[in-house]
This record gives sequence, C-alpha cells and structure tokens, in this order.
Amino acid sequence: MVEKPLPVIQRHTDAVIKVTLSSICTSDLHIIHGCVPAAKDGVVLGHEFVGEVVEAGSAVKNFKKGDRVSVNCETFCGECFFCKRGFINNCIDGGWELGCKIDGCQAEYVRVPFADNGLTKLPDSVSYENALFVGDILSSGYWGAELCEIKRGDTIAVIGAGPVGLCAMQCAKLSGAGKIIAIDINEQRLELAKNLGFADFIFKPENCEEKIRTITKYGVDAVIEAAGGENTFEIAYKIARPNAVVALVAMYEKNQILPLPEMYGKNLIFKTGGVDAVHSKDLVNLICEGKITTDFLITHRFSFDSIKDAYRLFEEKSENCLKIALQY
Ligand SMILES: NC(=O)c1ccc[n+]([C@@H]2O[C@H](COP(=O)([O-])OP(=O)(O)OC[C@H]3O[C@@H](n4cnc5c(N)ncnc54)[C@H](O)[C@@H]3O)[C@@H](O)[C@H]2O)c1
Ligand SMILES: [Zn+2]
Ligand SMILES: [Zn+2]
Repeated sequence: MVEKPLPVIQRHTDAVIKVTLSSICTSDLHIIHGCVPAAKDGVVLGHEFVGEVVEAGSAVKNFKKGDRVSVNCETFCGECFFCKRGFINNCIDGGWELGCKIDGCQAEYVRVPFADNGLTKLPDSVSYENALFVGDILSSGYWGAELCEIKRGDTIAVIGAGPVGLCAMQCAKLSGAGKIIAIDINEQRLELAKNLGFADFIFKPENCEEKIRTITKYGVDAVIEAAGGENTFEIAYKIARPNAVVALVAMYEKNQILPLPEMYGKNLIFKTGGVDAVHSKDLVNLICEGKITTDFLITHRFSFDSIKDAYRLFEEKSENCLKIALQY
C-alpha cells in the first residue's frame, strides 16, 4: 500500500471516479506473476469497479458529478480504425490500460480516460454489487459467447467454471445454446454451475473427450476456453468438432503448442484475445430485466484496508472463494 496524489483530469474527455466497490481479477494475479509484458512497474492495480463520478472533464457530454456508474475495464477513443469496428481492445489510444499501463481502481479515486465511452450509468434498481462485474468478467463471458457465433441449439463447452466461465455459460444460454458442458478440476465450482442451471453436464478433464462424444457425436459446436490451465488449450481443440470455433478467453502464462500436422483437416477457427468490452449498456439492461445475474459471484467482502488479505484468499481460492467485493 502506498500513498499517491489524488488523480486529476488530464484531458477534457476524462472523468474522476470515487470507487465504491472494486474487485480483484485473475488478470491482476497474472500481472503480479510478471506474465503481462505490457504492465507498467508501480502501476495501481485493478480494472473491475463501480463508483460515483466526482469530476467530469469539459468535453464529457453524458456524465456529471454524482452519477452512479459501472466502469469498463478498457478505455477507448471510439473513433480510430479499431473502435469503429467494435474492436476496442485494440484502440490505438486505449485498450486495457486501467490497472495495467495507467493507475487502476485499487485506490479510492481513479482517472478514467474517454469517460463518455467507458462509463455506464446505473439505474436506481441496479445496486453497485449488481453491477460490479459488468465492465470486466461479465463482458468477458459475453464476449466469449459472442465469439462462438452460436446457432440455436448448439452444444457449447466451457472450460473453466471460474467467474469468467460461469458468466460465459449464462451468456451462451442467452444466445440460444441448447446444451452447455462445463469442464473444471474444481468439484465445487462444477456443482455450482449445475445448481445455478448454467451447465447441463459437468465433467472433470479426465476422459472428458470420450464423455463429450456420448453427448454430441462429432464434438462440440464451439468451445470457450476460460481456464488457462496446463492442458486446457489441448482439451479445447480436442473436444471441438471439425469447423468449430475455439474461443480463447483465458490469459495464458505460458506458450501453447498447436500440433498442426496432426490436426490437419479439422478446419478449426481459433479466436484469441482480450475482451472487446463494448456491450456494458446491454449488460446493465439484462441485469435490470433479471436475464443475467452476477450476484452469486460475491463470496467474500473485505474493506479496502484489508486488500492484502483479500489478494491472498483470492489467489489461494480458499473458502470456495469466487469473487471478492472490496468496500471503500
Ligand atoms: N480475455 C480477457 O479479456 C479476460 C478478461 C477477464 C479474465 N480473463 C482471463 O480469463 C481466465 C479465467 O478467469 P477467472 O477469473 O474465471 O479465473 P479462475 O482462475 O477463477 O478460473 C479458472 C478455472 O479454471 C479451472 N482450471 C484450472 N486449470 C484447469 C485444468 N487443467 N482443467 C480444467 N479446469 C482448470 C480452475 O479450477 C478455475 O475454476 C483468466 O486467465 C483470466 O485472466 C481474460
Ligand atoms: Zn479482468
Ligand atoms: Zn479507438
């Protein structure tokens, strides 16, 4: 924990947000492990949060002091080649900057560039807790489902029943998936996916390829890889049927091997990435309508002062921890 000066408006399009709740993302752990080359030394971590606008730059049109907002994990200009195509993760003047290249939300106040694009107003009926995950992991789950180009009735496998995987399962169902197969090494998380009605089948990785073929003969129509484990990339391309989409949402800490000679003719479509978090408004509406929920994700609450204990618990995944709400 260090003291830093309060953030101020640097460009007319910035806003300063008073954080009311933030969370810790597995991607923060990847930074701490030194596995995110883009991350700047000494940056304030954190990119998953909600709060209140305390100051809006003179060019900010849609937000004013006092607005309750959820904040996108990515900042984006809205005008460059990539933004115009919805690929905001590659915005030439933005992308994943908060808590990586510029100071993030594990602090009382944050400067958010391009506030008109990165903030989403919260209706009175949506609480800060309801909206805490909109800008990051819910967006990531939604994006994973979007990448799969789901057709009604498709069978989708989601590897990893962590926060991102669980969000992806809900979003895949909402996009018309018929059957969802969840794969994880963690029994409790698999049970949760089943009990919440997000997954129709739950499997441990061992022999999952054979088990899946008893449900869908040729393999699954699409795979969302949200685990990033030792062998989960391999599982992903093995359980996919020919011509399937394999959406790689997980952030790997190591290089992965693709045995191209062996898989020649399988004609898979790999999509790799960092989320394009451009649907926050739609996601808030879906929460409002009760079609999506992330409330079950908050298993622990800590005060901001105890953030070190929160990090420890989150990394250990002890006490069945899924996500932590840090209260300011
Ligand atoms: N692409 C993006 O923009 C984006 C955004 C947010 C998070 N992420 C990444 O998505 C990934 C998932 O995030 P999360 O918060 O849900 O993480 P998490 O670690 O809580 O969940 C991963 C799950 O995968 C399971 N798993 C690990 N190894 C496995 C294995 N060998 N076989 C089967 N299951 C295994 C774990 O038990 C866990 O439940 C992370 O890598 C995170 O950095 C990416
Ligand atoms: Zn994240
Ligand atoms: Zn841009």
